[in-house]
Amino acid sequence: MRKKIVAGNWKMNKTLQEGLALAKGLDEVLAKEKVNCEVIIGTPFIHLASVCAAIDTQKIGVAAENCADHASGAYTGEVSAAMVKSTGAEYVILGHSERRAYYGETPEMLKTKVRLALDNGLTPIFCIGEVLDERKAGKHFDVVKAQVEQSLFDLSAEDFSKIILAYEPVWAIGTGETATPEQAEEIHAYIRGVIAAKYGKQVADDCSILYGGSCKPSNAKELFANPDVDGGLIGGASLKVEDFMGIIRAW
Ligand code: PGA
Repeated sequence: MRKKIVAGNWKMNKTLQEGLALAKGLDEVLAKEKVNCEVIIGTPFIHLASVCAAIDTQKIGVAAENCADHASGAYTGEVSAAMVKSTGAEYVILGHSERRAYYGETPEMLKTKVRLALDNGLTPIFCIGEVLDERKAGKHFDVVKAQVEQSLFDLSAEDFSKIILAYEPVWAIGTGETATPEQAEEIHAYIRGVIAAKYGKQVADDCSILYGGSCKPSNAKELFANPDVDGGLIGGASLKVEDFMGIIRAW
């Protein structure tokens, strides 16, 4: 069954103390309020263990924002999928456009990271999306298709079924500019079609495809109203309990 999901991506924000306060604040609200979607928070690596210990992880899933493309060994400064899993986190955001653009993550590296995440029992939240020039040139469909094919289409249908996708147009991330509900639905439906062509209709229907890019309480409802938009990956608006709850309540 396709899940409705609102996932936060804190990026490189919040000290440990601030992050704990944010996570606990969200936990307190969700302890009292029944919501209509799954809730996940993506935190910096160093927050993961403390956050997992401080909240009800049955109610709030915890995600790392990245993991290494090696299993273990002499890779100074890297954090493996097994290490992420050992903190209590169940998810890992992979292929975020900031990782692709600023840290040189290639489709090949991402393929390895996805494999390692799955092998260690983590659910990847795999990000795809075009930059502005690609959208202007009408290449956005080809770009997202290639991103999915290059990093995910070696997976068996069983493994692919474990993936959450996040479509994040790079021109909408942190810019205040959001894709219109029509633009989001158009490309989400297209992505689902690409998955259906490879893995069949059932796998495609069951895949959660989140929208990301300046999603906020004021526009979440109209984005989520689309049949192929299954939730959001939220950056800026995940940094305050009230904003994040405003998006969660859009379901
Ligand atoms: P934003 O970021 O909500 O701040 O635009 C989304 C993301 O990059 O995941």
